[in-house]
Amino acid sequence: MKRIFLAASLWAWILCQPLEAQNGEIKNQLKSFTPGALWKDNNGVHINAHGGGILYEKGTYYWFGEHKTEGKGGNVAQVGVHCYSSTDLYNWTDQGIALSVSNDPTSDIVKGCILERPKVIYNRKTEKYVMWFHLEPKGKGYGGALVGIAQADKVTGPYTFIRSTRATPQSWPVNVLDLHKRPVPEKYRAERANLNPTEHPDSVNTLGRDFEKGQHSRDMTLFVDDDGKAYHICSSESNSVIHIAELTDDYLDFTGKWVRAFVGRRMEAPAIFKKNGLYYFMGSGCTGWRPNEARSAVAPSIWGPWTELGNPCVDADKETTYRSQSTYFLPVAGKKDAIIYMGDRWTPENAIDGRYIWLPVEFKDGKFILHWYDEWDLSVFD
Ligand code: GAL
Repeated sequence: MKRIFLAASLWAWILCQPLEAQNGEIKNQLKSFTPGALWKDNNGVHINAHGGGILYEKGTYYWFGEHKTEGKGGNVAQVGVHCYSSTDLYNWTDQGIALSVSNDPTSDIVKGCILERPKVIYNRKTEKYVMWFHLEPKGKGYGGALVGIAQADKVTGPYTFIRSTRATPQSWPVNVLDLHKRPVPEKYRAERANLNPTEHPDSVNTLGRDFEKGQHSRDMTLFVDDDGKAYHICSSESNSVIHIAELTDDYLDFTGKWVRAFVGRRMEAPAIFKKNGLYYFMGSGCTGWRPNEARSAVAPSIWGPWTELGNPCVDADKETTYRSQSTYFLPVAGKKDAIIYMGDRWTPENAIDGRYIWLPVEFKDGKFILHWYDEWDLSVFD
């Protein structure tokens, strides 16, 4: 009798344990997206992958993003790039830190640097995973305007930091103007964090000034085309022009072929997707962590010409991109033309609390649009 009682008590105890204790993790609990809510991972912790991007491989999505910490200080890199995996896009498993900041004060990625908007792509030729991110040396604000490049043998890492650089050093864009090659006036030679918004970038010729050491690269993304060619897209020339540059076959460098796009339009947060042979672009204005009205554009080639299509958001709060800023467009595997807008709702006062705004991309009159949904699932694409 005593034994039966003990066995029954044991079963009752097991059944009362939370799921994560039974399985080591919470599995497949979520069946929808809830933009702006807390998104819990398999350990019940809010996902920490801001300014992120996603790589899909053999049935699994890998989400890489900035690991933020609590408070205002949490906006600089105290930890590194966090990776999560999922097979259904709703439920995410913590895969740990893919790229760690360094404790070596001489390292470019020393703890306390600014490390933003990491993107990972897979290189079929080298069989390596390549990560690019916006890097600002520790304690220097946003004046560095560098990219950082890292590589790994395994998708979840660890990633090894390779180097940092400005974009496309010593190469002129395909659409260079004669004026860029003229000597830059003395008064414009100094590094300036930001242009006066009324100044046209070409009147200052930031491009000519930065030819030798390379162009600014702040907010950035990567895009891999169907032919395997990869591109780096960044906010350059003091955030006033978008630069689109081809990468070498190993994805570790620039080939030197690149264009200036949206000259003087002052855009950040670039994101790109392709549909039916057309390239679609989304970016934001430049208001730091505060959200603003998004812009969109379309082009027949990644090199342009880009035609602006206006604000893709159509519902209440469209002036602030539903209080978000673009970071990536995710094509959903196995569903034709199913693309997810991934944006960040930043919370700079407590960086770790930033939320994720994911919405389905819809198409209307040759444009893509984003409707707001409190809750939605992948069946919207069926
Ligand atoms: C935003 C940018 C973020 C971050 C922030 C800093 O405009 O998109 O990635 O750099 O500014 O203020």
